[in-house]
Amino acid sequence: MSIKILVNGANGRMGKEVVNAVSDDSELSFVGGCDIEDNLEDVIKNLKPQVVVDFTSPVSVFKNLKTIINLNVCPVVGTTGLKEEEINEAKKLCEEKNLGGLIAPNFAIGAVLLMEFAAKASKYMPYMEIIELHHDKKIDAPSGTALKTAEKISKERAKFKENIIPNEKILDGARGTRYKDIQIHSVRLPGLIAHEEVIFGGTGQTLTLRHDSFNRESFMPGVVYACKKVTSLNKLYYGLEEIL
Ligand SMILES: NC(=O)c1ccc[n+]([C@@H]2O[C@H](COP(=O)([O-])OP(=O)(O)OC[C@H]3O[C@@H](n4cnc5c(N)ncnc54)[C@H](O)[C@@H]3O)[C@@H](O)[C@H]2O)c1
Repeated sequence: MSIKILVNGANGRMGKEVVNAVSDDSELSFVGGCDIEDNLEDVIKNLKPQVVVDFTSPVSVFKNLKTIINLNVCPVVGTTGLKEEEINEAKKLCEEKNLGGLIAPNFAIGAVLLMEFAAKASKYMPYMEIIELHHDKKIDAPSGTALKTAEKISKERAKFKENIIPNEKILDGARGTRYKDIQIHSVRLPGLIAHEEVIFGGTGQTLTLRHDSFNRESFMPGVVYACKKVTSLNKLYYGLEEIL
């Protein structure tokens, strides 16, 4: 029996890719899509999916997530912009219901590996900065992937580094933003899709880890895998690596 999937944000750039990927997979069955003009709760009640994939907007994602969980459907959330306390609240809701789900700021396996390698490298090279680069239509910054990378590094790194602030601030924001003590820089340009570099600095050397998603298909194996996996889980995970 194939797993019934509803796609929220089905008319968007990621949503369209997900509809195609789900429709092409024999173990999944695409039961329908909804978008901003629809009422998610009504659509779920009508179509009775087992999993809702959400690629909508940072503005609405938390509300969508709570709607999905409250209706006992497994969420697979790719939308970025969820705050730490919102993720924790959603985890608690799923735990109370023994409901499986996943929030993943990046479904591309290469990006997941970059985060793992970066965390590992930070044990030996604790000085680093993150540069994330995305297309010009992305509405949140810094990216969810950059935040997740910084979070993973902050748990593993050998020591903190002091903030290197220039004595002379010529323009505000020249040093980007920070997660804890980790500097993050966000680039937005047409032509880009989703890219990230972590540059480590050591005595007389640097190490650069870089991942590039050149198209949105790069995220689909991860999304399809998550759709198949979540129905057998009994809690909400944050990060694709947690369920691989
Ligand atoms: N996790 C990942 O691997 C990954 C990869 C790429 C993009 N993203 C994230 O996915 C999200 C969507 O990206 P996109 O490029 O597809 O954006 P998009 O603007 O092309 O598409 C979003 C779609 O969601 C719809 N929408 C907005 N609010 C809605 C609501 N309340 N209910 C239902 N539908 C709603 C819009 O009408 C639109 O069709 C962003 O947060 C982006 O950062 C995540």
